[in-house]
Amino acid sequence: MPSTERTMHISMAITQPDSLGSWRREVSKAAEFASLDYWVKIAQIAERGKLDSLFIADAPEADMDALRTRQVPKLEPIVLLSALATQTSNIGLVGTASTSYSEPYTLARQFAALDHISGGRAGWNIVTSFLGTRNYGVPLAAQPDRYARAQEFIEVATALWDSWADDAVVVDKAAGIFVDDTKVHPINHSGAYFSVEGPLDISRSPQGHPVLVQAGASATGRDFASRHAEMIFGAAPNIESAQEFYGDMHRRIAAVGRNPDQVTILPGCSPYIGSTEEEAHRIREEALSLIDFDHGLVTLQKHMGNIDLSGLDLDESIPPDRLPADTSVLIDRQSRPQLYKDLALAPGSTLRRMIEVCLSHNGHWNLVGSPEQIADSLQEWFTNGACDGINLLPAHTPDGIEIFVDEVIPILQRRGLFRTDYEGSTLRDHLGLERPDAR
Ligand SMILES: Cc1cc2nc3c(=O)[nH]c(=O)nc-3n(C[C@H](O)[C@H](O)[C@H](O)COP(=O)(O)O)c2cc1C
Repeated sequence: MPSTERTMHISMAITQPDSLGSWRREVSKAAEFASLDYWVKIAQIAERGKLDSLFIADAPEADMDALRTRQVPKLEPIVLLSALATQTSNIGLVGTASTSYSEPYTLARQFAALDHISGGRAGWNIVTSFLGTRNYGVPLAAQPDRYARAQEFIEVATALWDSWADDAVVVDKAAGIFVDDTKVHPINHSGAYFSVEGPLDISRSPQGHPVLVQAGASATGRDFASRHAEMIFGAAPNIESAQEFYGDMHRRIAAVGRNPDQVTILPGCSPYIGSTEEEAHRIREEALSLIDFDHGLVTLQKHMGNIDLSGLDLDESIPPDRLPADTSVLIDRQSRPQLYKDLALAPGSTLRRMIEVCLSHNGHWNLVGSPEQIADSLQEWFTNGACDGINLLPAHTPDGIEIFVDEVIPILQRRGLFRTDYEGSTLRDHLGLERPDAR
């Protein structure tokens, strides 16, 4: 962020707006997951808090192991964000889409359309996907190949967004000219993965390009993010790993000739918030008491690189020989299994605690406290080189979102750490990002 007085950026993930036990809490309205009204309420609470953006994660499959006890059913991101675009006016709309299972022309026109209908609030969380192979009939490519395809995918999508000059649409009724076709050009791309002639069939959108977001954390993932991402989502259970990631990404971004200040780095943060610390702990205990440990073990095994943890004592630590030897050789994900391995090897770690971590906040930064305590912790990370803000992963809803917006945000605003109103109307305005010129 431009180094005038820095203020935090806060995005909110609304994919599974309840950590995995919380949907069973009395107050949770998770059962309304297919109603637009449910999502509009969440989006409008977030916009009331002047949050930068809403984020929808996605994986193109229904996890059969999780179907019974987890709220797996979800609306497709671009469809949901398009609907939310009509019920909100400022908040950014970031959706996940895969470069492994989509085509550049399709995604380029979908995000350009979302950017047009939202008045410039679209963002794309670029994933190479580690799930979904069975629904697309293609084997999961090795990680380097997935990122190589993603690299070309971004080049093609960007060229398509730039295939119209900003002033190509003229609508000159007298002359009978709708578009100045001298300002629209094919891209004629032919590469290892894609052959795309173009141009795009929609004029250049308000932001030029949707904001590009990425969440890879392995060496290859970080390299990709350093070249393309304007907003980076991270996963860090403690301030030390957040500072390591933040510092390393700034070095990598500078090393490829980009300005680190033009990239916003947001670790996930999953807080249990109560009006008092005691209340927050009560909510956490309630959510944890609703966890299904048998199902939790299955999920943890997957997140740790598809290892076998069966037959182990819940209240003992995981024996090191049951942990993945080298996470850098894993084909689907590398960074998250490494994060869990580090947590499993930490003193005092038990299998039960690992399952709670996995099901309640998936290894992200977890907080429990009053609004004042939550604000203090966010300020500590923000002012000590660990982040530019957070990607809020609500641990309990709707109460956790309401108390964050109505009690934590005002504290951050009083401390001059968060905006009191939106600076502009586009997501790029909120993030202080320049609008890219058509190349
Ligand atoms: C906050 C956050 C959100 C993510 N959202 C998604 C998602 O929606 N879909 C997905 O396939 N992967 C998602 N991921 C996973 C990353 O895109 C990436 O695949 C993973 O971090 C492995 O990266 P690596 O290949 O660099 O190890 C997310 C990761 C983080 C930290």
